[in-house]
Amino acid sequence: MTTQFPDGFLWGTATAAHQVEGGNVNNDHWEMEHAPHSPFVESSGDACDSWNRWEEDLDLVAGAGLNTYRFSLEWSRIEPEEGEVSRAALDHYRRIVDGCRDRGLTPIATLVHFTMPRWLMHDGGWTGPKTGDRIARFTELALPAVKDAAYVATINEPNLMAVQPVIGGMARRGEEIKGLPVPDQAVSEALIGLHHRSTEVLRGAGSPPTGMTLVGIEYIDEGGGAEPLQAARTAMMDQFLTAAAGDDWVGLQIYTAQRFGPDGLIAPPADRQTLAHGMERRPEALGAAINHAASVLPDTPLLVTENGIATADDADRIAFTTDALRGLAAAIEAGADVRGYVHWSLLDNFEWMLGFAPTFGLVAVDRETFVRTPKPSLAWLGEVAKRNGLA
Ligand code: BGC
Repeated sequence: MTTQFPDGFLWGTATAAHQVEGGNVNNDHWEMEHAPHSPFVESSGDACDSWNRWEEDLDLVAGAGLNTYRFSLEWSRIEPEEGEVSRAALDHYRRIVDGCRDRGLTPIATLVHFTMPRWLMHDGGWTGPKTGDRIARFTELALPAVKDAAYVATINEPNLMAVQPVIGGMARRGEEIKGLPVPDQAVSEALIGLHHRSTEVLRGAGSPPTGMTLVGIEYIDEGGGAEPLQAARTAMMDQFLTAAAGDDWVGLQIYTAQRFGPDGLIAPPADRQTLAHGMERRPEALGAAINHAASVLPDTPLLVTENGIATADDADRIAFTTDALRGLAAAIEAGADVRGYVHWSLLDNFEWMLGFAPTFGLVAVDRETFVRTPKPSLAWLGEVAKRNGLA
């Protein structure tokens, strides 16, 4: 069965600054990675050295036949101390946008992908009273770097960022963490506010189409779970999708499902494979979460800005992605306005608290030499892109 995608569909792969650049010593994550009793299993260190090797990275993306690259800016490099601006760092990101264009790649730039400068962490963080003004100023600084991107995302996964403090509290109290708990409401509202502040600046400057990227989940009722399911979906998805209603587009990043019974979240059935990062292997989640987003926001273009699998078995990455793309094609067929598919990730990289062990990459990276070795899945996804469909 052939599965074709709409004309002009974007096919790409993504990275995020802190996970690939290396040497981001000036952000909150570096500090958390090095704190006593840090929950991070290792430091991001040199990561993939993409700060220096970004051209090689873009060559890999374009060489495979993909047409899109998503990357993020690192605020702590652009504004290492409050009000002190690194023109060199801004230039660096501007060159990445130009480098994409030179290679025929559509650039998607994310302004904030989880990390913040240390000075911000120590003076209010995401919920601080001055953070709205500060993100507005950072967005203004970033404008010249991203003005030729095709899409700009303000904040990556604010809905997941709002879950993190809840998980932190549960871990401190020694409670069992069965899956993603419901996000902290105050943090959710603060991040939505920051998204709107950043959007105002981008819009005011006539920047490229602007949105935010949200983690998307398939919600499954295993019987009697409708109520907790609805509560979780409202807090995690619907309030963020509704907040995105005026945006030019919305990014969805879909990896897995959550299952509910009468008492809330339940573990996946035992025959369901769990992946290196503890999530259920669930390619069907892509189509399901897109269908839901399209039902809440029927008039807003959607982009899959992340989807992928942490596995050492590259053949399974291809099998997983094939199934996920079939679900995506069905959602488009059913009416969802999806403009592209961006796979997570180009490189095996720093998977946050779990360090470098989970491998999401289409390309392996030698941890000492940084030599990149494409896996068969890179060429496979490139072929899908060239065909604009599955074989
Ligand atoms: C994040 C990425 C992360 C990926 C896999 C997403 O939540 O945006 O930074 O590496 O999921 O866990």
